[in-house]
Amino acid sequence: MTLEHSRKNPKRLGILISGRGSNMLALAEAVRENRIPNAEIVLVVSDNADAAGLSIAQDLGLNTVVIVRSGRNREEHEREILGALKEHEVDLVCLAGYMRLLSSDFINDFRNRILNIHPSLLPCFPGLDAQRQAIGHGVKWSGCTVHFVDETLDGGPIIAQRIVPVLDGDTEESLSARILVEEHRLYAEAVALVVRGDFDVLGRRVIAKM
Ligand code: GRF
Repeated sequence: MTLEHSRKNPKRLGILISGRGSNMLALAEAVRENRIPNAEIVLVVSDNADAAGLSIAQDLGLNTVVIVRSGRNREEHEREILGALKEHEVDLVCLAGYMRLLSSDFINDFRNRILNIHPSLLPCFPGLDAQRQAIGHGVKWSGCTVHFVDETLDGGPIIAQRIVPVLDGDTEESLSARILVEEHRLYAEAVALVVRGDFDVLGRRVIAKM
């Protein structure tokens, strides 16, 4: 019997961050306000000791751990992160501005249990600087996507998306700010869906059960 099956509610969330931490904060507020029912955040992992999100998490009273990469290869770094996630019996991993690609060994350990949020309407504009890519391409609409993490770059099955307009006067900063408001709402909704388990993954399609 797997941990997932042996454990009753609440689902134990682990959040990985590298920087600002606003999506981590949005998830924490959503858990507190019961917009993600039957879930608790049991660990916030940062690979950056100076991440602003780290002090936000500490102020919220969340368990935090800093696991920096320096001086080690990816395998060693990931092994330590996986150890921390397992030690805290994490069911679901939420990437929230985590700036490293995960190896397939890591992904296999949490297959269909790692979520990411990306500031574009995937599959448009994967990778870095998605908002700058959107403006540069001249699209009239962009948005954000929550998806399961697989071995491809921002390419796993899509759980939920929101759109925002790209306005003629937009800069990368103004578009990013408009998208970020929607990111914070969307991530909580998507995590709530996954925690409920009311969905099937059919190929690339994540279908909510009625
Ligand atoms: C967000 O735009 C998210 O979509 C992307 O990285 C940014 C992280 O921001 N993956 P924050 O650290 O959650 O504030």
